[in-house]
Amino acid sequence: MHPDFVWWNGERRPWDECTIHVTELGWSTVGAVFEGIRAYMGDSGDELHIFRLQEHLERLERSMRLVRLRLDYSLDQISAATTDLLRANEIREDTYIRPLAYAADTSGKRFAQIGLDAALLINTSPMASHLKTGITQTAKVSSWRRISEDVMPPRVKNLSNYRNSQLAGMEARLDGYDTAILLNQQGKVSEGPGACLMLISRNQIVTPDIGSGILESITRDALIVVLREVLGLEVVEREVDRTELYLADEVFTCGTAAEVTPVVSIDKYDVGAGTIGPVTHALETAFDDILRGRDARYAHWRTPVQVATPAAV
Ligand SMILES: Cc1ncc(COP(=O)(O)O)c(C=O)c1O
Repeated sequence: MHPDFVWWNGERRPWDECTIHVTELGWSTVGAVFEGIRAYMGDSGDELHIFRLQEHLERLERSMRLVRLRLDYSLDQISAATTDLLRANEIREDTYIRPLAYAADTSGKRFAQIGLDAALLINTSPMASHLKTGITQTAKVSSWRRISEDVMPPRVKNLSNYRNSQLAGMEARLDGYDTAILLNQQGKVSEGPGACLMLISRNQIVTPDIGSGILESITRDALIVVLREVLGLEVVEREVDRTELYLADEVFTCGTAAEVTPVVSIDKYDVGAGTIGPVTHALETAFDDILRGRDARYAHWRTPVQVATPAAV
């Protein structure tokens, strides 16, 4: 299954017309950057809510700047293209939106080119929410260390960063765990392969700070606000030691794809009672209310998109 349309280089186009030549394979994606954005279906069934679209597009702009790709569109244009695409694809389910910026026309070139044209693609695909489904994860502290500022830029969504994530994720799964937790070069806790991490210890929420080699996560930023404002809890951003993971009362990963995913054991230590803890449980509910448009306090985080209701039969 694929959507009817993608947005590619300034136009909405039929999905099957959007091809590139096989000789473009290779260097084009080494310098690529991307975004991962979610749209959630509201309870009425005729309105999607894109979560923090503006913040994601601002991060795309920062990522492109860092890898020296020129952005030829305003964020308003990309925002309008995204909402148009959701409507054109007649989307009526929870959806993942992936803008991808990459160097175009790399055929026959090598990796150190400067000033290549940037291509920009926006693709949509279904992605159901797993909030409040009872899903849990087991985790392993990876033998791979998280990339650091002196090697690669961890805070932006640079596609090449994900080789590091992939190695850690594959190792964890082959060893029988669901996911990995990576330490940084200093041996402090950093994040998961595609998600940030928070732990709860004695009623305080602790999350590795931006300097710990994490992506500048938009979900993590939102959850810090929700934990403080909705659940009235104290949140601290600081360096986190490995031992703290093993002694925590609750641990969860967070991110656009991860949403809030409880981690119930780490390196075979049960986290708390080895089940979903009360704070994580409450956070899943509060976050779901925000994502689906039930909580009016956070309307500024949502871009509503009206999608036609299918004709009654
Ligand atoms: C490596 C990594 N860390 C953290 C996150 C969470 O970031 P965000 O909340 O902006 O999706 C992601 C993406 O989801 C990621 O790929």
